[in-house]
Amino acid sequence: MAMRLAAALRLLLVVVAAARGAAGGGGAKVPAIFVFGDSTADVGNNDYLPGSSARANFPHNGVDFPGGKPTGRFSNGLIGVDFIAAAMGFSRSPPAYLSLIAIAANNSSNSSKTTMAAAACMKGANFASGGSGVLDSTGTTINMTKQIEYFSDLKDQMSTKLGADKVSTLLSKSIFLISAGGNDAFDFFSQNISPDSTAIQQFCEAVISTYDSHVKTLYNLGARKFAVINVPLIGCCPYWRSQNPTGECIQPLNQLATRLNDEIWDLFNDLSSQMQGMKYSIASSYELVSSLIEKPQAAGLEEVRSACCGGGKLNAEKGCTPSSSYCSDRSKFLFWDLLHPTQATSKFAGLVFYDGAARFVSPITFKQLVEE
Ligand SMILES: *[C@@H]1O[C@H](CO)[C@@H](O)[C@H](O)[C@H]1NC(C)=O
Ligand SMILES: *[C@@H]1O[C@H](CO)[C@@H](O)[C@H](O)[C@H]1NC(C)=O
Ligand SMILES: *[C@@H]1O[C@H](CO)[C@@H](O)[C@H](O)[C@H]1NC(C)=O
Ligand SMILES: *[C@@H]1O[C@H](CO)[C@@H](O)[C@H](O)[C@H]1NC(C)=O
Repeated sequence: MAMRLAAALRLLLVVVAAARGAAGGGGAKVPAIFVFGDSTADVGNNDYLPGSSARANFPHNGVDFPGGKPTGRFSNGLIGVDFIAAAMGFSRSPPAYLSLIAIAANNSSNSSKTTMAAAACMKGANFASGGSGVLDSTGTTINMTKQIEYFSDLKDQMSTKLGADKVSTLLSKSIFLISAGGNDAFDFFSQNISPDSTAIQQFCEAVISTYDSHVKTLYNLGARKFAVINVPLIGCCPYWRSQNPTGECIQPLNQLATRLNDEIWDLFNDLSSQMQGMKYSIASSYELVSSLIEKPQAAGLEEVRSACCGGGKLNAEKGCTPSSSYCSDRSKFLFWDLLHPTQATSKFAGLVFYDGAARFVSPITFKQLVEE
């Protein structure tokens, strides 16, 4: 497996080298974006995990994606990282890393599709995998350690082609976007509905110390600019509301997310004072959803409780599958399915994280992170 992957990577880089001239580039404000995290950022890596249930490469996902195609995004269309990448001058998120590998491994002819997909790799890659967490023990998909290993493999191949110095300059100017932590909280809470303070303390310590080590590993591989999306307001997602007889948010779960977010804030503050040249911006998915629940009209939304696509109470006891019912006015829903936002919400979030108020993104905005 490792050998086949290495061979596929070498092939990918050959294709990239051949295509570099045609890559276009144009208005991008950073050389590349590398994305890590969970289903809030996955653009199709899980499509390549045979037998995984954490996939979204079937209808009605993608119903509003260009061409109406399911891509592996847990959304009716584009997701937050697509809009963030667009604000940074790219067309959308860099491609799923495993799709690049599959295309290169499969490259029986130099079709333009292959060449173009591979060329995109020089503008970054998306390693995020639905179901994963900060903790490697969260989920059964591509854990964070493995996502970073994939990045390290890619960096090695880039260095072989471009030389270590050029790659190190490229990486130092690139954006490393991390959107993770929601599944860790979700799993912990599912297993301990009323955890005591010691259990909470131990859990938070484990998440933060693991987050610390992931960031240090990325820094040592050359990452300098970190764009972080914090733990969402998960207690208010339609799934958890559907589990509450009142249909209200599950507050202990939101309190857990708040605590993790406070500690993630402190972590990055500490890390940036220890590690020379490190810069970061933290976007608050938590605050964003919280503000939209209060004032949905800010994003043109009307329905903030139930899912557009799914089944059961609030359309959120079941996931979105080809046999689910789904809403026709998707631009009015905050949530697409039991856990994930609609394209409309993601678009609003992407713009706010890029250049919005300090309540939503601080200590600097993603835009300032790009420009520093
Ligand atoms: C690999 O090749 C097969 C056969 O040509 C094709 O059906 C499939 O879509 C290809 N996969 C990728 C990822 O390009
Ligand atoms: C893959 O594509 C590249 C560039 O288009 C080409 O040079 C190479 O021969 C192809 N590999 C295979 C196995 O067809
Ligand atoms: C294959 O690559 C060559 C050289 O890069 C190019 O001239 C040719 O048009 C490509 N063929 C296809 C089918 O893309
Ligand atoms: C993380 O992923 C790697 C590669 O799939 C695997 O070998 C390892 O066991 C995983 N770690 C945990 C704690 O599941």
